[in-house]
Amino acid sequence: MLPIVPRPVEATLLDGAPSVLTSQSRLVTGPSAEEVGAGVLLANLVGALIDRSISVARLDEEPPRPGDLVLRLDESAGPQGATSTERYTFDSRDGVVEIVAASVDGLVRGMATLGQLLEPVVGGYSIPAVRVVDAPRFAWRGLSLDVARHFFAVEDVKRVLQLMARLKLNVLHLHLTDDQGWRLEIPSRPELTRLGATTSVGGGPGGFFSVEDFAELQTFAHARGITVIPEIDLPGHTNAALHACPELNADGEPKPVYTGIEVGFSSLDASLPATERFLRDVLGDVAAMTRGPWVHLGGDEAHDTPPEDYAAIVRLAAEILREHGKVPVGWQEAAGVPGTAQVVQVWHTGIPLEPLAAAAASGVQVVMSPAEHAYLDMKYHEGFPLGLEWAGFVELRDSYEWEPTEVVPGLDPDAVVGVEAAVWTETLTTLDELTTMLLPRLTAVAEAAWSARERRDWDSYAERVRGLWPRWERLGFSWHPSPQVDWAGR
Ligand code: ACM
Repeated sequence: MLPIVPRPVEATLLDGAPSVLTSQSRLVTGPSAEEVGAGVLLANLVGALIDRSISVARLDEEPPRPGDLVLRLDESAGPQGATSTERYTFDSRDGVVEIVAASVDGLVRGMATLGQLLEPVVGGYSIPAVRVVDAPRFAWRGLSLDVARHFFAVEDVKRVLQLMARLKLNVLHLHLTDDQGWRLEIPSRPELTRLGATTSVGGGPGGFFSVEDFAELQTFAHARGITVIPEIDLPGHTNAALHACPELNADGEPKPVYTGIEVGFSSLDASLPATERFLRDVLGDVAAMTRGPWVHLGGDEAHDTPPEDYAAIVRLAAEILREHGKVPVGWQEAAGVPGTAQVVQVWHTGIPLEPLAAAAASGVQVVMSPAEHAYLDMKYHEGFPLGLEWAGFVELRDSYEWEPTEVVPGLDPDAVVGVEAAVWTETLTTLDELTTMLLPRLTAVAEAAWSARERRDWDSYAERVRGLWPRWERLGFSWHPSPQVDWAGR
């Protein structure tokens, strides 16, 4: 079985010799300006896969020879009838690897397949003779990363983006603000990061992304076919803002910094004029800084917010985002305020789910992040040194065996646009700790997001994932050897 995770629509081992990428290999693109541009951009990614730089040539000038990698754009790529712009066809035959895709993002997905098929050999990397024809099930395949409880700097987030690209994920949701820290520079409100980013859970160091850092992350993500969605969590989870901006408190006094891990005690106050000014400044700046269509307004666990205040603030936040041309996203609680979030993210199946079906009936889209499957900050098992356990233990098989369209009873399956894993960082302080929670479980959630229902099967997955760990180690990612898989050669 070809070790490709997430499982493709079709993968066939062919007769014939493997292709070998070496220092002589060239990246040969189709002749259009778009293809040549994509080739130049993707040469970096290929170079990283094969540990050497690769020159770019044009197919109409230089016919491919064995050892070359051909990249072409063609609408007919991918499975018959597939409409996803990320569809691609991957062929390794007669010593030439060819990726044909309907878009540059499709080429990037094909390169992720290349990354999982190549094996080091003397002088280069070998790819078996294969044909892969592939397209995603869901358009939104994400990871939510909490950089508020503990801050993760640009270089760490880039490593997470590299890992995501290898699993064909296409949305990085950054949880940028919470009680413990405000992690994004807001030019109109410099005090938010000057005063609100100084510490983190446990009282350790803080940190934040400057406007330039955030732009750099989005550029890095974009080159990998990943959209960054910033989350400004409102109206709860706002202690860092209440600390930095005293006018957001009814008594005009700044709230003390918070370094614990309780939730649900902080709130914006809808009755204060300062609140609307704050929302207009912050969300206006965030919208201006955001390259993609979506901004997440939070909306979860506002236990200290009266319901009328909650509705007013979520409504205003959504309206401001729309005025700035952005699509508002919210946690599932926001579905209770009709006409606000256009995309809602399910995280807790213990909260009444009825508003979701009604929201979906009015055109709201739903992303699935059920904690008992997709919260990768839950401990793998009792006594695991990292993580929390409020949603139970989440072993690898729990992250694999679930069906996104069945999380919410009565929800129209067509309303489900995607799947997002989430990793909260109350207990995670280093990249090694973070990736120990992500690997291997992120591969399981990625398969729930990419692969068709009828192609998902634990035994097949366990057989394919077991060979991936040497790649993680080569890339320097720490991982947890879940006992549910017989890790090949370990
Ligand atoms: C959440 O975990 N509070 C969305």
